Amino acid sequence: MSAQWNEYYQKILNQPHRPNVENAVNLLKLESKVALDIGCGIGRDSHFLLEQGFNVHAFDSHEDAVKTCLTRFEGHKCFSISQCCFTEFDYPQCSLVIANASLFFCPDEGFEQVWTKIDSALQPGGIFCGDFLGVKDSWVASEMHPNITALTKKEVESLFEDYELIALNERDEDGTTVVGSPKHWHMFSVTARKR
Ligand SMILES: C[S@@+](CC[C@H](N)C(=O)[O-])C[C@H]1O[C@@H](n2cnc3c(N)ncnc32)[C@H](O)[C@@H]1O
Repeated sequence: MSAQWNEYYQKILNQPHRPNVENAVNLLKLESKVALDIGCGIGRDSHFLLEQGFNVHAFDSHEDAVKTCLTRFEGHKCFSISQCCFTEFDYPQCSLVIANASLFFCPDEGFEQVWTKIDSALQPGGIFCGDFLGVKDSWVASEMHPNITALTKKEVESLFEDYELIALNERDEDGTTVVGSPKHWHMFSVTARKR
């Protein structure tokens, strides 16, 4: 898995932040600008958030992702990063949560606890922006990904009962991964404001 992440990091090295992050920043009406970048990879979204004046607390379990971010954001007082997994991170209070293409990889047995921590960290009025794997995704029950969390649309919606759901986009189609491997994509991309 580690080698595959490195291939992924190479592919996205020069890619800009994701549009949903820019949208989330524009939706934020709170004065506080503190963001969590969950499973930050090489920091493509953290980079944009720092440019927008956020304090960014990032984490990723992959050593090379963390090393890349440390080099990329060296000396940046508003950036901190930990090498740890979803269950270990000490989630600070924040106004924005970014979890792009990362929570897929949270082991199923830890997901509920992780979600409670994320929800508790996000202050009222704060924005969540991120993706969840759907149950029809071809990674579900694949040997390559034995430890993932996949949810139904109803389960995703139930995570956001205390939120104003701004967008819930479902992708359910054959496609390829960033590194070109064919797969069936089933995922939900959510932007929501905590009440
Ligand atoms: C598809 S990448 C997305 C990276 C970044 N969010 C982006 O949009 O470019 C998923 C990231 O999740 C990280 N990851 C996988 N399992 C993890 C875990 N258990 N805890 C923390 N991060 C994890 C990987 O190392 C990888 O960097």
